[in-house]
Amino acid sequence: MTTPSAAPVTAVILVAAGSGQRLGYGMPKAKVPLGGDSILIHALRGVAAAGVARQICVALPPGDRELAAQCEAFAEELRNGGGNGAETPEITAVDGGASRADSVRAALAALHPDTRSVLVHDAARALAPEAVFHRVAEALAAGAQAVIPVLPVVDTVKTVARTTGPDADIAPELVTGTAPREALRAVQTPQGFSLETLRRAHESAEGLDEAQAAAVTDDAMLVELLGVPVHAVRGASQSLKITTPLDLILAEGLLEGPLGARWVEG
Ligand code: CTP
Ligand code: MG
Repeated sequence: MTTPSAAPVTAVILVAAGSGQRLGYGMPKAKVPLGGDSILIHALRGVAAAGVARQICVALPPGDRELAAQCEAFAEELRNGGGNGAETPEITAVDGGASRADSVRAALAALHPDTRSVLVHDAARALAPEAVFHRVAEALAAGAQAVIPVLPVVDTVKTVARTTGPDADIAPELVTGTAPREALRAVQTPQGFSLETLRRAHESAEGLDEAQAAAVTDDAMLVELLGVPVHAVRGASQSLKITTPLDLILAEGLLEGPLGARWVEG
């Protein structure tokens, strides 16, 4: 499936500038090997295979020549016919920033002037299936200003506070409430936006103090603060964010499993 013809000119921002502290490989997460390639290459392959992007703008750890070279090699592979028949996207690499939002802003500054919509995707979600990109792109083509892929939450989710007084001798936290699970969703990427909405959202974030900025964990949060409706489409469990060593084992398992890397659940 390709993007509907009504689709605006779309770019994908692939944020890959994180340091991967929780994975603990002692190297940027994008470089960590997964099934014989790097996490970055798997992520690039997924974005290109989805066929929704005219441009893929990758935010890399500043000055990382090895990852820049991987981007160039991938662009060359695409030009030589490695694509899926869709228009070959242009690959642009930029230096990311100190926070994820800074990396998104760096990539926003490098988009083609004719770009009308943007999908922001975590390189750490290296195995996100094509179908999710299509669901997000289709919602944008249908008129959404903002759209996110989500999954129902399987665990019961509670709020807690640090224990004070005599309770502190029993356990470090006390439960303060239970969120209604039917209304909860776990949020993934790619998140899609009209370019104008995403730019406005990130401009408004420039006024946040350090603590507020640290609490911004995705782009949709900033859009919500503008009062713009954010639509939710179905995500996929294969879009897991490779964060901890256990996630890497799961991703390896998906690659090696009988169904292949980018199988889509029904
Ligand atoms: N990211 C980025 N620039 C940053 C921080 C994060 O581009 N300054 C990207 C990461 O590369 C990743 C995505 O944002 O693709 C989600 O971030 P996360 O999973 O937290 O990755 P890391 O920040 O690398 O991991 P950690 O927090 O464990 O260090
Ligand atoms: Mg991080």
